[in-house]
Amino acid sequence: MDRIRIIGGHPLQGTIPISGAKNATLPLMIASLLTQDTLVLENVPRLADVRLLQHILGNHGVDIMIGGKRPGESTHDGQTLHLSAGRIVDTTAPYDLVSRMRASFWVIGPLLARMGEAKVSMPGGCAIGTRPVDLLLMVLERLGAEIATDSGYVLARAPKGLRGGSIVFPKVTVGGTHTALMAASLANGTTVIDNAAREPEIVDVADCLNKMGARISGAGTSRIVIDGVPRLSGARHRVLPDRIETGTYAMAVAMTGGNVLLENTRADLLQAALDVLTTAGAVVAETNTGVRISRNGHGIAPVTVTTAPFPGFPTDLQAQLMALTSRAQGTSRITETIFENRFMHVQELVRLGARIHLDGETATIEGVEKLKGAPVMATDLRASVSLVIAALAAEGETMVHRVYHLDRGFERLEDKLVACGAEIERISG
Ligand code: EPU
Repeated sequence: MDRIRIIGGHPLQGTIPISGAKNATLPLMIASLLTQDTLVLENVPRLADVRLLQHILGNHGVDIMIGGKRPGESTHDGQTLHLSAGRIVDTTAPYDLVSRMRASFWVIGPLLARMGEAKVSMPGGCAIGTRPVDLLLMVLERLGAEIATDSGYVLARAPKGLRGGSIVFPKVTVGGTHTALMAASLANGTTVIDNAAREPEIVDVADCLNKMGARISGAGTSRIVIDGVPRLSGARHRVLPDRIETGTYAMAVAMTGGNVLLENTRADLLQAALDVLTTAGAVVAETNTGVRISRNGHGIAPVTVTTAPFPGFPTDLQAQLMALTSRAQGTSRITETIFENRFMHVQELVRLGARIHLDGETATIEGVEKLKGAPVMATDLRASVSLVIAALAAEGETMVHRVYHLDRGFERLEDKLVACGAEIERISG
């Protein structure tokens, strides 16, 4: 298994290109199941989760072609995927595939809407919490589907097609909102979603569906209205920048010091996180091409933050913020309200010298003057990258184990950091 070795203490200087968003790419790829025409996605990041979803969609009969390079493009640009679901050959998503990536459960919406049936394995728990699918099933029922569960599988049927309905989410859910958008686009009649997720990735998926001929309004607000259409067509769509990758590198710069331009991204995608970074002492400036982050010689100020659905502070940046605050000049408090078990990084950060006390959903972080390198490992994507950030600012060598988690969501992480002066290398085997 690969490891990553980091020698800390180098401020980051230079430019980091931000990739297309993983959490938009996955539902956009799944949306290709809704049409027999070709959906072309540009700016797709090269990630393990994207490759796995290609495999899963292939199983349903989606042909996927990866576009060749165009003049002026480098291998660092995102890839272009051509996805064609001319004929769905299998409406079952088996356990061995769904259990490897939760988002693959979302195929249930398009399969049901287009084929009138779907059999999808229940995803099961994962390192950051129990993560049930009850609200996704509620969506399908509200649209007229019959739902049964059998031997770990969800069986969804709508032999006469789905019909529009009213969906009121008792809590904000990204996956539930994606499922509602995709299924209702092909339903007969109008669907109204209340308390919809407002994440930028929802807006991106709605934009793409509208290019495919869907009639969705209100994406990005809590109320989304969808007028169903009988069929969708192909489209070409560019995936929006990854706000979590942007925020992660912003925290790395805030932690190590230095001055980095995060290129091809937008501040409005993560304003709440950038506001917290400013409070912590970083200088944030939006430019024509991206967001510039720098930190002067002063220390990091402590912060109090609670994670919340967009536009609040994202749970996907909570671990990285904890790494940053571990060296603040004072005591910070971080409360996690989205996932009940998303503190797996705490014990590993403590191994690097952080002082963190956990009480229920709140972590109290007493800033220390320095962290010291150590061997560490983590159990999920964002936790792993928080260890990388901490290691970049720690004294001496840190070895991060189980880096396959990082490969799920961060494209060319070591290359991007090395180009800014970090001492980081991958050790294979
Ligand atoms: N929930 C339910 N029932 C459901 C669905 C969700 O109770 O049927 C709960 C969840 O357990 C959680 C809350 O609702 O407590 C919000 O979960 P949500 O459905 O919004 O999360 P998700 O769609 O499963 C996506 C991202 C996550 C990100 C969350 C929150 C993708 C592929 N995943 O997950 O990203 O943390 O939204 O913003 O978009 C990551 O990239 O590392 C990651 C975990």
